[in-house]
Amino acid sequence: KKIILSGIQPTGIFTLGNYIGAVRNWQQLQEDYQCAYFIADLHSLTVRQEAAKLRKQSLEAFALLLACGIDPQKSLMFIQSHVHNHAELGWILACNSLFGELSRMTQFKDKSAKHADNINAGLFTYPSLMAADILLYQADYVPVGADQTQHLEFTRNVAQRFNNLYGNTFKLPEAYLPPEGAKIMSLQEPAKKMSKSDTNPKAFISILDDHDTIIRKFRSAVTDSEAKVMFREGKDGINNLMTIYSVVTGKTYEQIEDEFNGKGYGDFKLAVGEAVSEELRPVRENFARLMNDKAYLEETYRAGAAVAQRISDRTLAKVKKKVGLLANP
Ligand code: TYM
Repeated sequence: KKIILSGIQPTGIFTLGNYIGAVRNWQQLQEDYQCAYFIADLHSLTVRQEAAKLRKQSLEAFALLLACGIDPQKSLMFIQSHVHNHAELGWILACNSLFGELSRMTQFKDKSAKHADNINAGLFTYPSLMAADILLYQADYVPVGADQTQHLEFTRNVAQRFNNLYGNTFKLPEAYLPPEGAKIMSLQEPAKKMSKSDTNPKAFISILDDHDTIIRKFRSAVTDSEAKVMFREGKDGINNLMTIYSVVTGKTYEQIEDEFNGKGYGDFKLAVGEAVSEELRPVRENFARLMNDKAYLEETYRAGAAVAQRISDRTLAKVKKKVGLLANP
């Protein structure tokens, strides 16, 4: 079986963007691939975090993966910082990452503009750690949203450079983007991606928002003045709502255009809200139940880390030998 790996940062309750662009697909891929999914807590440290809050969010993020249907019987699930191989390979790969290529990362440029008071070294070498996450498990495919494709390209470049220098060590992974919904946009500024760190809560749907909140946020979604439900260039707001509706209902854009032919945006927004709320209902219910069983959560991530450590030991041992680190007998 081909190997799938992906991670998500515990910087808040996942948004509908995280769900449609990533986690929903992770759940579906479990049936056909050997999957590994983890909470990228080390990556979160590249932005200043409050310790108690980060701990709480990491536990919640793990519970959210389970609530979204990631099944520990089918997939390997763990917390990144519990598997020290990630940090170790991250260092070795940072020593094989070039200042120039890291400087070209658009996420680094965006985040350093946003956090100008804390442009730390970790923010800069973030992609080297991400490359380590992926290469440790010899992943074939990495299911991510469109904003991560540059990091995947970087990962392939680092792997290739390493393989050329030291001999074949890493499998070259490929990004695996969903056919639709790889970039869900903000409900308030549809030219911007939906993000959990948006200061305006109306701009994103959190996957734990209750029914009424979801309906209210879709009602106030920014659209255009044409009053025609059609997927067309220049209709960013409507295109985004159509994408969301299409993914959760399985309807094509054509079917959606027919369904709302002659109807106003009000009807359409309400239908999108209802469909999203229905899709997320089990997530809300499962999450509430899981957070009442901390012992189960702990046991699940403890067991996952042990297996992840064992699997990733193989790659790390090869790498250490190749770069010339003396074996620890
Ligand atoms: P993160 O935590 O920012 O996002 C998790 C996943 O959600 C996707 N995503 C979106 N997809 C569609 N529309 C959106 N508006 C949207 N916003 C976010 C992201 O593309 C991502 O797939 N660097 C990663 C975490 C990571 C990782 C890895 C991923 C660390 N190591 C190794 C894959 C493999 C990140 O910050 O994702």
